[in-house]
Amino acid sequence: MHPAQVIQLPAPSLSGDLSMEAALSRRRSVRDYSDRPLQIREVAQLLWAAQGITEPRRGLRTTPSAGATFPLEIFVAAGNVNGLAAGLYRYRPLSHTLEFVIPGELRPALQRVSLNQPLVRQAPAVFIITALPERTEARYGGRAMRYVFMEVGHAAQNLNLQAIALGLGSVVVGAFHDADLTAVLNLPPGEIPLYVIPAGAPRQ
Ligand SMILES: Cc1cc2nc3c(=O)[nH]c(=O)nc-3n(C[C@H](O)[C@H](O)[C@H](O)COP(=O)(O)O)c2cc1C
Repeated sequence: MHPAQVIQLPAPSLSGDLSMEAALSRRRSVRDYSDRPLQIREVAQLLWAAQGITEPRRGLRTTPSAGATFPLEIFVAAGNVNGLAAGLYRYRPLSHTLEFVIPGELRPALQRVSLNQPLVRQAPAVFIITALPERTEARYGGRAMRYVFMEVGHAAQNLNLQAIALGLGSVVVGAFHDADLTAVLNLPPGEIPLYVIPAGAPRQ
């Protein structure tokens, strides 16, 4: 078996021009995207906002995690991204790298499994947050699933607000067929899809 192709991402920026208050006041679900490609730097920043490492020693992240059990994973399906071939990539927070997992254009399949919502195909990149609940169940048992659901909300909102700060837009999509999306992403047993988040430059 060939080792998966690994792509080192540009380091995240830790400063920006927009205040938190402005980002909060401007956040709106975007369902119409321009043709402008995303830059790999923007994709890297969005991934970092959702799950990036902010304290390497303990592996702590931008998003809180119950008992630091880190059940979440984030993927990006690149469609129109400068610097990334079309395909599905898994983000590796500790190394801030992308692992190329499925080559080719996945957005039509993602649209199909997401109740055929056109915005899923139109966005230049689609982020998908999944979870391995067993990581949190090992510590919290029957209470773990609610923690996993809470945590995905934190990660998604981080991504939403980062998109605004970059002059981009996004929308959180929860309407999809679980089994079909699991198949499109080729997820291993025990890993479940939770959110589909198309992002890109809004059409003016
Ligand atoms: C759990 C959840 C699931 C959602 N699923 C979808 C979806 O499948 N498609 C969509 O276009 N918007 C979806 N949304 C976005 C909401 O429709 C949107 O947040 C709401 O209309 C309020 O608009 P705003 O985000 O612009 O404030 C979802 C939002 C949440 C919180």
